[in-house]
Amino acid sequence: KKKIAVMTSGGDSPGMNGVVRAVVRTAIHMDCDAYAVYEGYEGLVRGGNFIRKMEWHDVRGWLSEGGTLIGTARCMAFYERPGRLTAAKNMVLNGIDALIICGGDGSLTGADRFRSEWPSLLEELVTSGELSEDQVAPYQHLNIVGIVGSIDNDLSGTDATVGCYSALSRICEMVDYIEATASSHSRAFVIEVMGRHCGWLALLAGVATGADFVFIPERPQEHDWRKDMRLVVNRHRKLGKRKTIVIVAEGARDKDGNKIVPEEIKDLLADKAEGGLGLDTRITTLGHVQRGGTAVAYDRVLSTLQGVEAVHAVLEATPDTETCFIAMNENKIVRKPLMKAVQETKELAKAVDAKDFEKAMSLRDAEFAD
Ligand code: F6P
Repeated sequence: KKKIAVMTSGGDSPGMNGVVRAVVRTAIHMDCDAYAVYEGYEGLVRGGNFIRKMEWHDVRGWLSEGGTLIGTARCMAFYERPGRLTAAKNMVLNGIDALIICGGDGSLTGADRFRSEWPSLLEELVTSGELSEDQVAPYQHLNIVGIVGSIDNDLSGTDATVGCYSALSRICEMVDYIEATASSHSRAFVIEVMGRHCGWLALLAGVATGADFVFIPERPQEHDWRKDMRLVVNRHRKLGKRKTIVIVAEGARDKDGNKIVPEEIKDLLADKAEGGLGLDTRITTLGHVQRGGTAVAYDRVLSTLQGVEAVHAVLEATPDTETCFIAMNENKIVRKPLMKAVQETKELAKAVDAKDFEKAMSLRDAEFAD
């Protein structure tokens, strides 16, 4: 029987449990043994009780659970070859043939590296006497398949990553709450959302809530944002608008590449000097409420479909198959070469089509304020 292990790695995201459930049950359905590696790569390096056989009933009810029930970690040891060597040894000792990893691009890049190093890792384990030729013989090829789990929606080549729509929904809900109090007090709010390198969450939240301004990492403000903001907010307020909502991604940059932090936006909105906006302004950092909580329906479906497909991809892979990840393209689940997507992500800065941005943001009040 083939032994397929599933693991979650990097920052958690809603829907990861759906992935684990789908992988475990599909593996069992396909007459394989299912394993879970607890605590991400950390568990692979530590071995022992971190690698556990899973039964059908072990994942019952997991679709509606937030976070990842098998744990996750950002593991330093796996970045170094000795860590990967121990991980390889633990895989062989547990008889694991294939690994399905749900994580962000960093975790998946690590997986691809592990796979390409695999033959040399086995060789080193044999030469050092840690494992015998016979022990490693059945495991000459390692099959790895990735599923992108991240709230940031930051990988090229897939329409959505597992968790991004849950986080987006949570942000919208929070912005709605904030709007009520902002209106009551006639205040301005600067709301910081997650997204170190990718502005998808901030941008879509801006579109979905009709925010007045959005700051993202990929599309630095072309104009003088201070001038624009003064003009637009002034107009609004003259028309009697009682709230100003600014959404800023944590990695937002201006046109010179300098980080834009919520405090400087607040300073501008609150400026009491002559000609300043003088608004009573608050900053809200949404933080990890965006990442926690249960998955929305879309993420439950996405994680299930991708988990099923990942097991099939593992079973159909040959030693020559490139490491793939499971993507969603135009509502279809497809397999794609992993490293190409990672490369494209670096080159293109995913997700933000400037034209779409312009179009969507032109619906905000500011455009029709006159
Ligand atoms: O990569 C996902 C993410 O949620 C980012 O948006 C955010 O910058 C980061 O993780 C926060 O990581 P941590 O929980 O380790 O502070």
